[in-house]
Amino acid sequence: MTAAHPYPPGFVWGVATSAYQIEGAANEDGRGPSIWDIFSHTPGRTANGDTGDVACDHYHRWRDDVELIASLGVDAYRFSIAWPRVQPLGQGAWNEQGLAFYDRLVDALLARGIKPHATLYHWDLPQALQDQGGWQNRETAQRFADYAAQVARRLGDRLGSIATHNEPWCTATLGHLVGKFAPGIQDAQIAAQVSHHLLLSHGLALQAMRAVGTRAPLGIVLNQSSVTAATDSEADRQKAEREYALFVRWYMDPIFKGRYPTAPGVSVYPAVHDNDFKVIGQKLDFLGINYYTRIWASSEGLPPPKPHGESDMGWENWPQGLTELLVGLKRQYGELPPIYVTENGIACADRLEGGRVADAQRIEYMRSHLAALRAAMAEGVDVRGFFYWSLLDNFEWDSGYDKRFGLVHVDYASQRRTLKDSAHWYHGHIDAARAATLNAQRPAPALAGGL
Ligand code: FCB
Repeated sequence: MTAAHPYPPGFVWGVATSAYQIEGAANEDGRGPSIWDIFSHTPGRTANGDTGDVACDHYHRWRDDVELIASLGVDAYRFSIAWPRVQPLGQGAWNEQGLAFYDRLVDALLARGIKPHATLYHWDLPQALQDQGGWQNRETAQRFADYAAQVARRLGDRLGSIATHNEPWCTATLGHLVGKFAPGIQDAQIAAQVSHHLLLSHGLALQAMRAVGTRAPLGIVLNQSSVTAATDSEADRQKAEREYALFVRWYMDPIFKGRYPTAPGVSVYPAVHDNDFKVIGQKLDFLGINYYTRIWASSEGLPPPKPHGESDMGWENWPQGLTELLVGLKRQYGELPPIYVTENGIACADRLEGGRVADAQRIEYMRSHLAALRAAMAEGVDVRGFFYWSLLDNFEWDSGYDKRFGLVHVDYASQRRTLKDSAHWYHGHIDAARAATLNAQRPAPALAGGL
């Protein structure tokens, strides 16, 4: 490795997935339907009408997948728990078969020396709760806290961490304003209220998990970006300020400053009850950040120049944005809890040829983003780990199976898994990083002959 700065001792190397994107077995062992089952089965909602019914069949292949994870040389695995698998209606009865699945998975990971990092909500709300208003309904926040406490009771002593939500911005904005994610609503006021209930549910869940004595570190995962104004015109500058407020500060400010941000042109705010910000601002043991690309703010709708190219999603590759984002957060929020990059990765038009996937573009993306991460750490940002998104090619939401983010290629017809070149590269990077860290810790050898 050519790292200028070795990673600190104990730095966690991982890979990430989420339940609906990989598990399949949508109707097995008592699992209830989620909003993504309903959404993906609605004609026109996903590319090719793809659904998560089978996905990577991880629910049946989990043993092999644990071996696969171990073969990458990582320390940790970030996965999510499907709420409708453990509590089919989102309230009331628990489904023992669902809980037992995660029990077995966690134990198998630990037996292979891999720390399980769980996320409670990666977008798969039980449909029964959606039928009662879903995240628009303040009651859902309390239901989520009950679910969190149950998972914490059952698994909390064995988990490396528990995150309440994954990317609440996506649930609120893509699910309730843009409407391209489940439940497919398009209403700005509803989206704002949903964002507030998600934050509230996060705070209530932290309280509930601590009340049952969870030992696992508790936090939340936010998707964030740096924002670049296309020009230094007043209009572009204001647009950049607005985008940053809506994307980053909308979730950071309530948690760390006890209020929603103001910015030019931001006018839709949720109804907030007394005491809500106190609940939302519970102490975090860690902050998870997902970074993929920057936001380009052009009031005239000009596209970004993309000097480092783009992914198969059309997202610009902009590694320096990760440095800019993290250093900026430190400046704006002061001492933050330890940060984990809980997702970073790229979709490429991968091809399996002769048993190999030569994904040089992914390797370059990873190399440049890890260099950008080290640059932020060199500026004093306290980053404790990095999780590549994703372990496997999987169901990429509205893009279906067309987009491949995995370090491991999945042939969906046969469910055969093949390590891509990037998987081997990542393994090598991790080994070299560990060696460099050890080396840096070793006392300097005594000078022969003394002074
Ligand atoms: C993130 C999601 C994850 C995956 C990646 C590409 O927004 O958390 O499930 O879809 O993007």
